[in-house]
Amino acid sequence: MRSYSLIAPAKINLYLEIIGDRSDGYHELAMILQSIDLADQIDIHPASTETIRVHCNHPQVPTDNSNLAYRAAALMATKFADAFRNFGGIDITIKKRIPVAAGLAGGSTNAAAVLVGIDLLWNLGLTFAELEELGATLGSDVPFCISGGTAIATGRGEQLSPLPSLDHIHIVLAKYRSLEVSTPWAYNTYRQEFGGTYIRDTANLADRANAVHSGEIVKAIVNKNTVEIAQKLHNDLEKVVLPAYPQVLHLRELFATQPGVLGTMMSGSGPSVFAIVESAEQAEIVKLKIREAIPDQDLELFVTRTITHGIKIAP
Ligand code: C5P
Repeated sequence: MRSYSLIAPAKINLYLEIIGDRSDGYHELAMILQSIDLADQIDIHPASTETIRVHCNHPQVPTDNSNLAYRAAALMATKFADAFRNFGGIDITIKKRIPVAAGLAGGSTNAAAVLVGIDLLWNLGLTFAELEELGATLGSDVPFCISGGTAIATGRGEQLSPLPSLDHIHIVLAKYRSLEVSTPWAYNTYRQEFGGTYIRDTANLADRANAVHSGEIVKAIVNKNTVEIAQKLHNDLEKVVLPAYPQVLHLRELFATQPGVLGTMMSGSGPSVFAIVESAEQAEIVKLKIREAIPDQDLELFVTRTITHGIKIAP
């Protein structure tokens, strides 16, 4: 039986609006998610015994069932118990490049790759819709990570409407290695501070989600107008994360003042911050300028770009 090597790209949020809370403890969201060319590699090998094993080159990434990639394999083993028995165990190796706990869906994209990889390994022939449904039970961002590209995500983040793809928009991305923001903390704090402004009426919730579909940033995406997209970036979670994490606020302000930066925003619940930049050359210059201003090697900096795909077999 063969092995599979998969590319698992990170995502950034071009838009994140919290439009209401939900009885399941999650929040009703309207987001625009975008895949970027910063990716982990996931190798999936058949194993001789009926076990699931995860290996990772990053010391901060757990290899037990607290790892979403492990849970994705366990889910497949339960759902397709016959295949698990017939084909034996699964060995997963994660080569991490995406910063961890960064708001870049690193864990979710690894889980998405495991679902796609096991589908291939066991010849299950699942459709994208079936894989997305399985993915939604693991985490809100997993369904998007499977197909990737550019999409509106509503509900918990698992209901997807694809948008025209945005290719080759230049991005500079920054994250302090040692800084982590808990996603539940960010959403809970938002709920405490801004819950009073929520829309609670279900019909209005749908209206709000629909308004995003016809909103200005979506128009800018359809028109492939990078300058407009950069001006319309939005993330409600900045309202709670930036005041609590001065380093992130500082990064955000630093990006905003760099020549060639068209727009800047925190991704997801942070603490990574990205900037949309005019050209590849400008992106390298912005990266250098940020490094000059913050020589601390704890700050990781990447030049990347938008891409049009999610999980892909490695060339
Ligand atoms: O779905 P996922 O496990 O990635 O979500 C992580 C956490 O983020 C949840 O436990 C919840 O606290 C918060 N969240 C939320 N509303 C969403 C998505 C995530 O409150 N729509």
